[in-house]
Amino acid sequence: MSAPAVDTQFARDVRAGLTQPEQKTLDCRYLYDDIGSALFEAITFLPEYGLTRADTRIIQAHAEDLLDCLPSDLVIAELGSGSGAKTRTILEAVRKRQRAIYYPIDLSASALARCAQELGPLGIVMPLGMSYLDGLRRVAALRAPGQRLLVLFLGSTIGNFEPQAAIDFVNSIRQELAPGDALLLGTDLVKPTAQLLDAYDDPTGVTAAFNLNLLGRINRELQGDFDLRQFAHVIRYHEEAQRIEMHLRSRVYQIVSIRQADLIVDFAAGETICTEACHKFYLEQVQTMADAAGFRLARQWVDEEWGFAENLLVCP
Ligand code: AVJ
Repeated sequence: MSAPAVDTQFARDVRAGLTQPEQKTLDCRYLYDDIGSALFEAITFLPEYGLTRADTRIIQAHAEDLLDCLPSDLVIAELGSGSGAKTRTILEAVRKRQRAIYYPIDLSASALARCAQELGPLGIVMPLGMSYLDGLRRVAALRAPGQRLLVLFLGSTIGNFEPQAAIDFVNSIRQELAPGDALLLGTDLVKPTAQLLDAYDDPTGVTAAFNLNLLGRINRELQGDFDLRQFAHVIRYHEEAQRIEMHLRSRVYQIVSIRQADLIVDFAAGETICTEACHKFYLEQVQTMADAAGFRLARQWVDEEWGFAENLLVCP
């Protein structure tokens, strides 16, 4: 007997993405299972991928500066469970001034557990296993009167949204906040195409492994029979859209079955699945996005070495 189709969000999203008439897609959120998260962490160490180091450098250089822009009695919430040097630096700076209360918000229980273990010694860590906006709503409801909220959305994850969706999302964040609350938003900047292509198609093949693992995950969790060797990692840069796209290209004509998604799907030779889009920004576009979402852009710190900006948006 074959396993029946299961009605999970993952199964539904895979079915919907792979039955699209034009471009097949898979949601980039599914890149991060345990293997994918480990591979992403390896990506952050690659010489070609300077994004995370730039993000960290800015925060290490300007954490005090950042807190000087904000009221005291702060509560920190983070969209995604940061566990690395960035969040650590911010919590250490906060701790010099006051008791640090930190709410990591993430759907991944294992990521939250790792984060609590790593950052627990620095303050009070209150993990919230919810969607970003549900988590923020909870934090806003839990805070004491007079406490201000600093929301961290680092790593340029905002680049995964289409431009209008990014504005809408930042606006939804603002709607959970009160005047004087702030959002620290990391944005990767437009840079030479060759540099971007190297960053997302590194010669070591770590990013390729990160991308291909998505098919491995479908095999493991949804009883798929993707032959990973029959797909190639492909990166495209769409210059006008300022967008890096990550694809998996079918090397041959092939038929794949994904039992628990109740799906049999064929791929033409050369056909691709788009697995991620990463938009890059100009500094002025962050200003436009902040304005459109009802925030005041209070500060921008730029890493000149890589081309990355940390933006402090304050709720008016
Ligand atoms: C985590 C979305 C910021 O866009 O650079 C890295 C993900 N994908 N290499 C990015 C990613 C391929 C990353 N973000």
